[in-house]
Amino acid sequence: MVLGIGTDIIEIDRIDKAIQRWGDGFLSHVFNKEEIEYARKYKFSAPHFAGRFAAKEAIYKAIGDNKNLGWKDIKILNDPNGKPYCVLNDRKFVNKILISISHTRNYAVASAVVTK
Ligand SMILES: CC(C)(COP(=O)(O)OP(=O)(O)OC[C@H]1O[C@@H](n2cnc3c(N)ncnc32)[C@H](O)[C@@H]1OP(=O)(O)O)[C@@H](O)C(=O)NCCC(=O)NCCS
Repeated sequence: MVLGIGTDIIEIDRIDKAIQRWGDGFLSHVFNKEEIEYARKYKFSAPHFAGRFAAKEAIYKAIGDNKNLGWKDIKILNDPNGKPYCVLNDRKFVNKILISISHTRNYAVASAVVTK
């Protein structure tokens, strides 16, 4: 059963500028260690950071009623095929979250669906 849906789109340039301006301070505020390591494997990491940023926003929207969730309580990882999934740092949350990420030159987009 679908309990919630969320989507988010972001300009990659916004994330790129935040990284240039605030550097590791920005990254470690928003992303977990594994997320930073993943994105940094790429020569141009901003689309991968932006995709994760959008995924976190999409998940937040899909969950809807959990206002205590912080950026780093949501961890976006990839399975061996590259498919993204998320791990939530909230023991009370028992539902399943499905996510999808895409990026072009300028934008990153993500969708999230909460299911029972
Ligand atoms: C995996 C694939 C779908 C990625 O699409 P893309 O257009 O190259 O790249 P996008 O920017 O749209 O998406 C990138 C994101 O896709 C996600 N992704 C990667 N592999 C994935 C997979 N196996 N399943 C689901 N999502 C995947 C990741 O989240 C990735 O972003 P990230 O690396 O920052 O986490 C593509 O490379 C591919 O293999 N396509 C096969 C197409 C095909 O066979 N079509 C037949 C018709 S059904």
